[in-house]
Amino acid sequence: MSDEEGWGRRRAILRDAAEMDGVRLDTYADRWPVPGTRAERRARNRTLAWFGLAVLGALCFVAVYLFWPWRYVPPLGHDATGYHLYTPLLGATFGLALLGLSFGIGTYAHKFLPKEHAIQERHDEPSSQADQDATAAILHDARDSAGLTRRSWMARALGAGAGAVGLGAGIGAVGSFVKDPWDQPSSPQSLWHTAWASPTGEAVYLRRVTGKPDEVQLVRPEELAPGAVMVCVPFRESERDDPDKLHDALRRADSPVNLVRLVPGTPVTPRSGQESFNWQDFYAYSRICTHLGCPVGMDLAEEDRLMCPCHSSQFDLHAGARPIFGPAVRPLPQLPITVDETGNFRARGDFTEPIGPSFWELG
Ligand code: FES
Repeated sequence: MSDEEGWGRRRAILRDAAEMDGVRLDTYADRWPVPGTRAERRARNRTLAWFGLAVLGALCFVAVYLFWPWRYVPPLGHDATGYHLYTPLLGATFGLALLGLSFGIGTYAHKFLPKEHAIQERHDEPSSQADQDATAAILHDARDSAGLTRRSWMARALGAGAGAVGLGAGIGAVGSFVKDPWDQPSSPQSLWHTAWASPTGEAVYLRRVTGKPDEVQLVRPEELAPGAVMVCVPFRESERDDPDKLHDALRRADSPVNLVRLVPGTPVTPRSGQESFNWQDFYAYSRICTHLGCPVGMDLAEEDRLMCPCHSSQFDLHAGARPIFGPAVRPLPQLPITVDETGNFRARGDFTEPIGPSFWELG
């Protein structure tokens, strides 16, 4: 039996079965009974154009993901524009790929699947053998009517579009395992370091955040009452006349610490290896919550606790800022501090663990 005869026979079975099953086929016709017409070619080109757009979008997504500058640059810093375009470009290119794929499939369905209008009565009985044969005929007919076997260009275009979008999605899913941010511990931009690091050995002081970007107020112990907390960022004397650097210190997400003065005599169980990170009753903890990175502040209801306003994690100041309530599972990293001969607080080094959300540790 030729393909044409087989197809015609399936159509006949389809109509008979439809009638047996109480289905009335009002319309069931090929959209292009005469293949190769100019109109069909136009429809084909339009479908191919959408799939081409999907491939282009997916390839641009991969190129942006791999080659666009992605390292963090503070807002308004030099060369910040490129970094700040990174995420929007990823979204735009992948969105373009999905748009092309979905419009390609939609255009194909609209322009090439048979016109069908059928009405069927519902019934509750199990299907008979004849019904099952009819279902098989319908499925085979749908496959052939869709033209995927006759129109190989459609199968290739759909494969290219879906494959390119899948490639983009796959790269997005596994790319972070390939581009390991922990791989460059010597880079000052690496997640291993914060703005408290001092590669040149210059003293890094605690600068009070006053709300005035150009103002420099260093912090002396007598300025903090017992039980008080002060937000501080790093400062170097070499930055005093450099507004850009003064502003950057305020903008950097890894910089702010809460300088806490406990009531004298408060018992504290420090974390192992951090027994000397405090100076007398003064402790400096990262202000960035270890749950999802919100700014942590003093808990006004409970003394000796820092609290995150986002999801209510609480950190115990009696126990090295270990979490005792809420979703955070990691203590706030502690900055080692001292008071030098000038009488001002300064850092004795960088944090010894990553600041911010715990998932960085999984990198
Ligand atoms: S971000 Fe702090 S508790 Fe969620």
